[in-house]
Amino acid sequence: MCEIPVFYATTEGQTQRIAERIAQTLRTRGFDSQTIDVGTPAASNIDWRHVRAAFVGASVHAGKHQPSAYAFVRAHAGELNACPSVFFSVSLSAVSKNPQERAAARQLAEQFAAAAQWQPQSIACVGGRLAYTRYGFFKRLVMRMIAKHEGGSTDTSRDHEYTDWAAVEQLVHTVANALRRTPDTIAVGA
Ligand SMILES: Cc1cc2nc3c(=O)[nH]c(=O)nc-3n(C[C@H](O)[C@H](O)[C@H](O)COP(=O)(O)O)c2cc1C
Repeated sequence: MCEIPVFYATTEGQTQRIAERIAQTLRTRGFDSQTIDVGTPAASNIDWRHVRAAFVGASVHAGKHQPSAYAFVRAHAGELNACPSVFFSVSLSAVSKNPQERAAARQLAEQFAAAAQWQPQSIACVGGRLAYTRYGFFKRLVMRMIAKHEGGSTDTSRDHEYTDWAAVEQLVHTVANALRRTPDTIAVGA
């Protein structure tokens, strides 16, 4: 049984890391939470009757989120719309020094949700990771050029993380507080 599943799609691992931090923080707040890769049978076998809220994360590559994340959200838009849900979109443009790039990251995330007919209560654009040590030669070259353009690090001897972990945890606490909140007044009778 999972009260708050944290679904994710990842290509180089950073969205999974963020999903794990979200689930871990939710567990410290007393919720039953697990990370679930959208491409695994566990994602299709989730028992939605026990779900109180859900997070879905995907990352941006060449201007698109993972098709597996889109397929999952499209298939489960009804269930996601029936509970409080959060979309976290991981990219480098989310933390670009250029405000237009940051606006474009938000627009991409909003379009992803709208196209899948999902209305998340919150959309968070989260900075990802330049995983230079994990890229092959050409990918490293391309990513270095993009980083140079965006004001990211061009030191390819190591990876560079742009995830604001405090902001990720704050997002989780906001959701946890909303779920824990009890009504101020209870109307009894007419
Ligand atoms: C080949 C490639 C293409 C990328 N394209 C984009 C892009 O179009 N826009 C962007 O903001 N970030 C882009 N990124 C950065 C990724 O979104 C970032 O590295 C993120 O942390 C990846 O998350 P993941 O490790 O969960 O896959 C790209 C990264 C790679 C390796």
